[in-house]
Amino acid sequence: MSRKLKNKILHRIPIERIAAEGKCVGHYEGKVVFVSHVAPGDVVDVRVTKGKSSFLEGEAIHIHKYSENRTEPFCEHYGTCGGCKWQHISYELQLEYKRQQVIDQFERIAKVPLPEVSPIIGAKETRYYRNKLDFTFSNNRWLTREQIDSGENLERNALGFHIPKRFDKIVDIVHCHLQGNISNEVRNRLRDFALKENISFYDMIRQEGVLRNLIIRTSSNEEIMVIVQFGEENHAAIKKVMDFLKENFPGITSLLYVINLKKNETFHDLEILNYHGRDYIEEKMEGLRFRIGPKSFYQTNSEQAHRLYQVAREFAGLTGDEVVFDLYTGTGTIANFVAQKAKQVIGIEYVDAAIEDARLNSQINGIENTLFYAGDMKDILNEEFTTNHEKPDVIITDPPRAGMHEDVVKMMLRLEAEKIVYVSCNPATQARDIALLSEKYSVNRVQPVDMFPQTYHVENVVLLTKNK
Ligand SMILES: C[S@@+](CC[C@H](N)C(=O)[O-])C[C@H]1O[C@@H](n2cnc3c(N)ncnc32)[C@H](O)[C@@H]1O
Repeated sequence: MSRKLKNKILHRIPIERIAAEGKCVGHYEGKVVFVSHVAPGDVVDVRVTKGKSSFLEGEAIHIHKYSENRTEPFCEHYGTCGGCKWQHISYELQLEYKRQQVIDQFERIAKVPLPEVSPIIGAKETRYYRNKLDFTFSNNRWLTREQIDSGENLERNALGFHIPKRFDKIVDIVHCHLQGNISNEVRNRLRDFALKENISFYDMIRQEGVLRNLIIRTSSNEEIMVIVQFGEENHAAIKKVMDFLKENFPGITSLLYVINLKKNETFHDLEILNYHGRDYIEEKMEGLRFRIGPKSFYQTNSEQAHRLYQVAREFAGLTGDEVVFDLYTGTGTIANFVAQKAKQVIGIEYVDAAIEDARLNSQINGIENTLFYAGDMKDILNEEFTTNHEKPDVIITDPPRAGMHEDVVKMMLRLEAEKIVYVSCNPATQARDIALLSEKYSVNRVQPVDMFPQTYHVENVVLLTKNK
């Protein structure tokens, strides 16, 4: 960066609009300045934190004028916790900005003719919409400047979320507005119990401590899964914690734990032990049951996932005669959701365990026209695969944020399905892939869906039809 500018205070910068990743844009001497935690219409002083020759990044240190677009943040952890960064913006405007983000990315990257982008499908529930939260235990609690200055003897153990960009600091969460049911009560009472019983919280630097991580998953069937990760094989302490949860929360239908002595918190390669109840919970959608194990992926906003899948199914326009490929199928939720209206659905996904879940979900729902394959998409979806299976009439694709590998896009062009329904959580990579697909396809419909209120994230569904 131009060193002269680091830490420089830029005065009275008018914030003009929202850009990608939720940051807002202003200008300083002709250069773009990206600022977070502000709203279009604010006028702010900005301290420059970093930048390149073509742009600067900074933080607002003083607000001279509050935008009319602002609303009062509802959470006491706003500004510290990285969770709901947009709660200072009214929900109506959040929706508008998300839709605009889709339009901007498509105009900037895809550069293809676009139909009118439909108004975004907003969520009825803008709080307590998540069915899964993941909390970390730490003996290195994040303290605010006021807390440090108060001189009080403060508790250093914490149970909550990582501070953005700080792997070792945890903000102690008192109330989280993202998950309802008994989530807040389980977390707070477990923390109080552990403190009272002197059970150690994890030390991320030394890699020791009994309590490491807590995952709470809920379903619309009122089922609750709790998974506790322990960082030490201390059976007496493990029993104390698990008994506490079992005795005090009869609503937990699946109480599990895992001993994780590895360096990171992921547990996909570890054995999950069942302490009480079943080892899965179930979600339902239009009469279908989806079994969710501790390692299974399931969209974290169940209600909006339903809306998203309805859009994908409507765009696919199935009559019952079509062969459908569901690429990046995860646990086969979309594949099973559309199976009734298709001749056959073939789902492909990287993770073996997810494919096992996908097959199980077909089985428990009596669905017999699905086939699932596990492996890297670019390796599985090759010439041999496509000659050994019927050609798809419709391809539904829902890749991760990075979008699709170029080989996968090329294969889609060769397959020449009549329709492609492209579901994405990142309109930038979606626009990039669609630019390549535009060799044979036109964008017919664009429907953004809001899966994550109070954040800048946007999900987008695009219907591509083959050019005649
Ligand atoms: C956005 S999720 C889609 C989930 C699913 N459609 C659903 O709604 O539940 C993307 C999925 O792509 C899978 N994935 C990521 N990279 C992959 C690759 N190279 N090949 C195959 N699958 C991949 C991930 O494991 C994940 O399940």
